[in-house]
Amino acid sequence: MTQAFGDKHTVQKLETVQKYLKAYVTALKFQPFQLLYVDACAGSGSSIPKWAIDQPDTAQAGLEGMDKRVADADDLIVGSAIRALSVDPPFHKYLLNDVKKSNVEALRAAVEKNHTHIADRVEISRFDANEMLMRLCRERDWRKTRAVVFIDPFGLQIDYSTLEMLGRTKAVDLWYLVPVFAMYRQISGEGQIHPDGGLRVDAALGTSAWRDVAVIQEEGQDLFGAIQPKSKRAVDVAWFEKVAKERIGAAFGGRVLDEVLPLGRDGLQEFSLMFAWANPDPKAQLAATLAKAILK
Ligand SMILES: C[S@@+](CC[C@H](N)C(=O)[O-])C[C@H]1O[C@@H](n2cnc3c(N)ncnc32)[C@H](O)[C@@H]1O
Repeated sequence: MTQAFGDKHTVQKLETVQKYLKAYVTALKFQPFQLLYVDACAGSGSSIPKWAIDQPDTAQAGLEGMDKRVADADDLIVGSAIRALSVDPPFHKYLLNDVKKSNVEALRAAVEKNHTHIADRVEISRFDANEMLMRLCRERDWRKTRAVVFIDPFGLQIDYSTLEMLGRTKAVDLWYLVPVFAMYRQISGEGQIHPDGGLRVDAALGTSAWRDVAVIQEEGQDLFGAIQPKSKRAVDVAWFEKVAKERIGAAFGGRVLDEVLPLGRDGLQEFSLMFAWANPDPKAQLAATLAKAILK
């Protein structure tokens, strides 16, 4: 079944990663490495954008029970995994993963139907993304392997320890859609940190130090005019973007691009697409050059 999510920003994100994949396979095609494409939150293979479902269609308006526009084939957004399967030359292996059973089934059906010629290169799994990526890091011989890992979650599912493991491979290029708004919204305007959400932010950033900066105490007055300490949120989404970038940089030996792609809807920045490369070899700087050119 096709997933219902997405927007113009979804297409922008997918096109950015797809451009990188094309440049990557071209640049490394004569290198003696097994090239992997790893999609830890691969989805179902395509999605129907929310606007295609939510917007009334003038052609259908007025008809009984047809106040919503019915999405058609042209509205479908081709997902990251399917885009990756179409790059030429192809990767040696595609490791596609999603935690949801229906997505995994839809993805498998899409590969069998439309990508038979490379189906033997595709492994589809159904794990939590952290577990899938930890296994990947442990099980591959990174002296002989190079990988592009795309992490595209809806929210705060990815643990910082997973990013650290990816960094330690010294062989992974990472595109990570960082959920900066989800981090920000765990703090109310009055400086209350959501108990569970706050712990997810701790896990995503691998530190609780953000708490000391994100909430400040001010002097306020109670109903009777007496001075009372009052807490307040002191940071914005841009601050979480900066902190997340620093943390990814720490996991990747400082090799994170300063340039990011901010993404969201209706003027609200929900995500920041970030790029980091684990390989300290100066030749691997090419990865950053390519990614930077694509993000421009
Ligand atoms: C934004 S969608 C990914 C879209 C996909 N990259 C595409 O282009 O179609 C996020 C996906 O993450 C999956 N997901 C959510 N939590 C997950 C987890 N803990 N581990 C793996 N996948 C997860 C969801 O089922 C969903 O398919």
